[in-house]
Amino acid sequence: MTTTLITGANKGLGFETARRLVAAGHTVYVGSRDADRGRRAAERLGARSVLLDVTDDASVAAAAHTVEADGGLDVLVNNAGIDERARDGGVIGAAELTADELRKVFETNVFGVVRVTHAFLPLLQRSAAPVVVNVSSGLASMARITAPGTPAHGYPGVAYPASKTAVNMITVQYAKAFPDMRINAVEPGYTATDLNAHAGTQTVEEGAGIIVRMAQVGPDGPTGGYFDAAGPLPW
Ligand SMILES: NC(=O)c1ccc[n+]([C@@H]2O[C@H](COP(=O)([O-])OP(=O)(O)OC[C@H]3O[C@@H](n4cnc5c(N)ncnc54)[C@H](OP(=O)(O)O)[C@@H]3O)[C@@H](O)[C@H]2O)c1
Repeated sequence: MTTTLITGANKGLGFETARRLVAAGHTVYVGSRDADRGRRAAERLGARSVLLDVTDDASVAAAAHTVEADGGLDVLVNNAGIDERARDGGVIGAAELTADELRKVFETNVFGVVRVTHAFLPLLQRSAAPVVVNVSSGLASMARITAPGTPAHGYPGVAYPASKTAVNMITVQYAKAFPDMRINAVEPGYTATDLNAHAGTQTVEEGAGIIVRMAQVGPDGPTGGYFDAAGPLPW
């Protein structure tokens, strides 16, 4: 029996990933920073819910304690994320970005990944086939964002792409440090969720595909990689 925790799984790509992994036979914990939203999602999915705010040390420690007491963890999906929209809904470009706004995005997207991974590492190290999936973005790719004429090149935001590039680096360094684990970064593709006010061009069913696949990777599968549905991506 494989036990899987997905952060930010009360909606969007995390919820769809949870749905698919429940169907695949995993025992799934829906991580949610709001107890009611988490419980409602878990009830709909036939999953368990665990209160988990990735920006809060005490919340993450309590979640790790709960999951450990219930028997441990095999798969961690670091999915919770925020973007960098200003109050008017526009993306915050280089001219307007403040250190506080950058810190806010990094607190969830980067420090959150490290906070959660660090807390659950002892559990993963006791698993026979530990897996970590870090939900990154195509905007993390330095190769893409510097290629004129591509959608990534035209994206004006700083905080979100920078945070996801950091996630990619964290993925690579953790993968080298823990060769017995499969640790990969994935790009779901531009998917209609609350993150982009449902402007994304893919459905969550399409977007979650690569997350689900990398969550199910076996001990002989890749590690330290960066993938979308079509295969490896350029860093
Ligand atoms: N949609 C896309 O086009 C796209 C493309 C590439 C990558 N991604 C990545 O995919 C992941 C999922 O995004 P999504 O598109 O599914 O967005 P979403 O529908 O907005 O879902 C984001 C999830 O993260 C949770 N979350 C935010 N801050 C949190 C915190 N501090 N602690 C715990 N949970 C927190 C949200 O919880 P609440 O409901 O409480 O806010 C929600 O469950 C993100 O990492 C995003 O960067 C998305």
